[in-house]
Amino acid sequence: MSQQHNSEQVCHVVVLISGNGSNLQALIDQQLKHGYRIAGVISNRADAYGLQRAKDAGLTSQVIDHKQFDSREAFDQEMIRVIDAMDIDLVVLAGFMRILSSAFVQHYQGRLLNIHPSLLPAYKGTQTHKRVLEAGDREHGVSVHFVTEELDGGPVVRQAVITVDSQDTVETLQQRIAEQEHRIYPEVVGWYASGRLTMTDSCATLDGNRLPPQGVRQ
Ligand code: GAR
Repeated sequence: MSQQHNSEQVCHVVVLISGNGSNLQALIDQQLKHGYRIAGVISNRADAYGLQRAKDAGLTSQVIDHKQFDSREAFDQEMIRVIDAMDIDLVVLAGFMRILSSAFVQHYQGRLLNIHPSLLPAYKGTQTHKRVLEAGDREHGVSVHFVTEELDGGPVVRQAVITVDSQDTVETLQQRIAEQEHRIYPEVVGWYASGRLTMTDSCATLDGNRLPPQGVRQ
């Protein structure tokens, strides 16, 4: 598995999901525009709505239920086995709510992207919208980053910022964050697909330039 080394010279992507899959939908809808191809979808949950989205788009999907494995490592090894059999250039986590083992992260180092609903390094982990509201923050946002062994800690590629106002609730923030996610994630995958984006020495690099800690902000 390496960047653009499949036979068609189109970047083949596998998308990992656990739930609704709205980011998967955005990635599906913008494949042609951004020059990558989704070669498969994997969910760790059989009831993930994203599986229906994959089916509607005619994509191959597979459920690998983490509860069927004795350990995180065993589950991740099975994912590696399935993904490596797919001739994939990039692994895209889109609401995949599992902590990944070191072995998995190392196996796909530099070829593994995640989207997280906060302005990293702020608010790693879960319930980010609630925590932003509780803290009274006036700014919130979303980050796309390369995945490293530090949870939600890999180099940031891109962030989108939204303003939080006094009327906002978890639901309104979630909706506005989702709009930003659907805008920036397919574009970042396109950057990778065209060879513009790499991870070099634990830094995200775009067009040969190391990105600042907050990545590209637009
Ligand atoms: C998205 O908001 C994504 O940023 C978040 O889960 C949601 C999935 O929505 N991911 C994380 O919190 C990862 N730590 P979706 O299933 O509709 O794409």
